[in-house]
Amino acid sequence: MSEYLLEMTGICKSFAGVHALSDVNFAVRPGSVICLAGENGCGKSTLVKIISGVYTKDAGKVVFEGKEIEHITPAEATRLGVQVIYQDLSIFPNLTVMENLAINSEITAGQKIVNRKRWEKTAKEALSKIGYEIDLYAKMGELSVADKQLVAICRALLFNAKLIIMDEPTTALTKKEVDALFTTVRQLKESGIAIMFISHKTEEIFEISDDVCIMRNGKNVFSGKTADLTKDDFTYYMTGRRLSNQKFVPENISKEPVLKVTNLSLRNAYQNVSFELRKGEILGITGLLGSGRTELALSLFGLMKPESGDIELNGQKASITSPMAAQKLKIGYVPEDRLTEGLCLRQPIADNITLSSLKRLSGKFGILNHKRIYEDAAIWVDKFSIATDDPHKNASTLSGGNQQKIVLSKWLSNDLDVLILNGPTVGVDVGAKEDIHNLVHSLANDGLAVIIISDDLSEVVQNCNRVIVMKDGVISGQIDEDSITEENILEVIR
Ligand SMILES: Nc1ncnc2c1ncn2[C@@H]1O[C@H](COP(=O)(O)OP(=O)(O)OP(=O)(O)O)[C@@H](O)[C@H]1O
Ligand SMILES: [Mg+2]
Repeated sequence: MSEYLLEMTGICKSFAGVHALSDVNFAVRPGSVICLAGENGCGKSTLVKIISGVYTKDAGKVVFEGKEIEHITPAEATRLGVQVIYQDLSIFPNLTVMENLAINSEITAGQKIVNRKRWEKTAKEALSKIGYEIDLYAKMGELSVADKQLVAICRALLFNAKLIIMDEPTTALTKKEVDALFTTVRQLKESGIAIMFISHKTEEIFEISDDVCIMRNGKNVFSGKTADLTKDDFTYYMTGRRLSNQKFVPENISKEPVLKVTNLSLRNAYQNVSFELRKGEILGITGLLGSGRTELALSLFGLMKPESGDIELNGQKASITSPMAAQKLKIGYVPEDRLTEGLCLRQPIADNITLSSLKRLSGKFGILNHKRIYEDAAIWVDKFSIATDDPHKNASTLSGGNQQKIVLSKWLSNDLDVLILNGPTVGVDVGAKEDIHNLVHSLANDGLAVIIISDDLSEVVQNCNRVIVMKDGVISGQIDEDSITEENILEVIR
């Protein structure tokens, strides 16, 4: 018998002529953690969808526990013990934890009569398997992402999972939650379950994975032990280039602030927030989830109304009552949850990129100039290496990370005074991350005032010339240019 639980060889998959996977090999041992890594659009999710029966492969061989599986359907994958925990977590938000845990097993067992006692027993068993405690009667929709994820893992265990696949599981988690998730992952591994996880975060990959499989453009570039790689080699395999990770050096910061916030307050969100932002600056705002940083950003973009305090733009008192008002004042905001807030999936890629600069791209009488839209879009597709062969295609054909890139370019292609970026590189691969950072540096040096909200401390340190730390809704500290280090920021956060 083979040492592998799952062995895939020569896997090919194309979408309308685009080779998403060409001759890919992938293998997982039981009781191990393997990370699948690679730039946005390299084919990671496609490979997962083949394993789980969502897509049918064009060619190649899949062997599970020594037996070749000709046709994988979602039901067959479940029967084999393959469970995927997608980012949307496929939960029923209006049902309780217990109902979510029990619902699938009830259906599979062919039980039609609802038996509360049995449901409760099933749910409790699942939770105890990973030593996780939660109120069984809490509504799923009200749980944190981290809790939802643990419930989803328990549900996978109820299906006797042998292989649990997690597609970017740590994206919306805080550091503490990531640690808790990793503890669970180690427990699962001990019990003989294989874990495959997709991530763009180098630190996490090195912390948790035994093996790594790196792909580029739908092909294998490295498969082997994580310990045999250095972090530099790892990014080199992913991107095909050596990254410089240049630190932001402000070139000309204006004397007068472009944005001045005084004593801004909103109950249950933030209190007495005051700060100034100058042209040419990149100001970092960091703090734990729930520190009020996102609510503050939403208020600056007219999506939340502060109760008291003042906002001044270029020396003039401003009343930002709506996103439209904010845009008129040349304020741009790139939301954290870009996929739901910033994108029209059923519109062409090019239209998405140029959406907020349509005015600039229309001719006399406001008639859209399609040629210019596509010319403009082509520049951004190239700048960010957005993986598409044709910007006329709908945004839904792009991989997750590439969708993120178009939302960003939509704003960066605009004429703005202040740009607020909330988690600008969440879900974006290391190569694109560097491209985005460099671009923001040059925009700042051309006179844009930028706010980066991020809990990725290395991102804040590398890109900001000033950092504000928020805690429980108030500014708990500010760190200036020379003393911006991860240690100093952590000191204030704690
Ligand atoms: N349903 C689809 N129709 C057309 N093209 C698709 C479809 N799904 C994926 N693709 C293309 O296949 C390639 C691989 O996409 P995939 O989603 O597997 O990337 P990924 O590695 O998961 O990227 P990310 O890190 O951004 O999530 C991309 O070029 C993508 O545009
Ligand atoms: Mg993906």
